[in-house]
Amino acid sequence: MRPTKELSQLKGQLHVRKPLPPFIAIPTTAGTGSEATVAAVISNPQTHEKYAINDPVLVPDVAVLDPLLTINLPPHITATTGMDALTHAIEAYIGRSTTALTNMYSEEATRLIMTYLQRAYTNPTDIEARQAMQKASYFAGAAFTRAFVGNVHVISHTLSGFYHVPHGLANAVILPHVLESYGATIYIPLSQLAIKSGIGNAKWGARANAELFIQTIRQLNEAMSIPTHLPILQSADIPLMASRAYAEANPLYPVPVIYTKAQFEAMYKKLQGHGAIHIL
Ligand SMILES: [Fe+2]
Repeated sequence: MRPTKELSQLKGQLHVRKPLPPFIAIPTTAGTGSEATVAAVISNPQTHEKYAINDPVLVPDVAVLDPLLTINLPPHITATTGMDALTHAIEAYIGRSTTALTNMYSEEATRLIMTYLQRAYTNPTDIEARQAMQKASYFAGAAFTRAFVGNVHVISHTLSGFYHVPHGLANAVILPHVLESYGATIYIPLSQLAIKSGIGNAKWGARANAELFIQTIRQLNEAMSIPTHLPILQSADIPLMASRAYAEANPLYPVPVIYTKAQFEAMYKKLQGHGAIHIL
């Protein structure tokens, strides 16, 4: 592909360019969606650096979804990777770069996750649930590789960088807080997702459905022992994390609400959860 280049030189957008040999992706979790995306995430254990290589040539030619490969996943990995997929579906859907195709992918991924994730968590050998989660991960990947992610991922990346919080766990904790902060700007899309997932009802109105959808995410987290806050977050680190988050988010992500640095700082403080009840 690029035999004379180091992996680190391919970091960022469109540096691979040359076509790959036939690429068959076989995911062993149901979450990242890498089997459907332009992204490859590289971890360098020497430098503790984690970075993405994004290029359309990295979209696999074939994705093989075999649920048998996921039945031995520990429950907390099932939970956190599944919530990563949910975050992909939702952030793609509420962003400003959606198409009819990405909306269809997001709606189906969300429906599947809301129906099957807790089942896969509770009964790891439930093949129907595992299969549904693999489809959901694929659809969510197909949605966000075209319509992007948003502020949940931006904040999650900084928490993984500073404290090694696993990506899916960070997303799961952050997701309801960020959705709540967007308020009325996302009532309509969240209401749509709630209705498509069988959680909401068109008769109840957009606000009620959106609030119910966020509440359902909180309940799903709680049922899977995912905490409500991240007390590992240190106050002294917040200004730098907020600066990095702001730099990553703007202008890259088509978020429904562009956070200022002060808004990022406020969100980090909220995530610390002073005075809140922690499940873990
Ligand atoms: Fe993700």
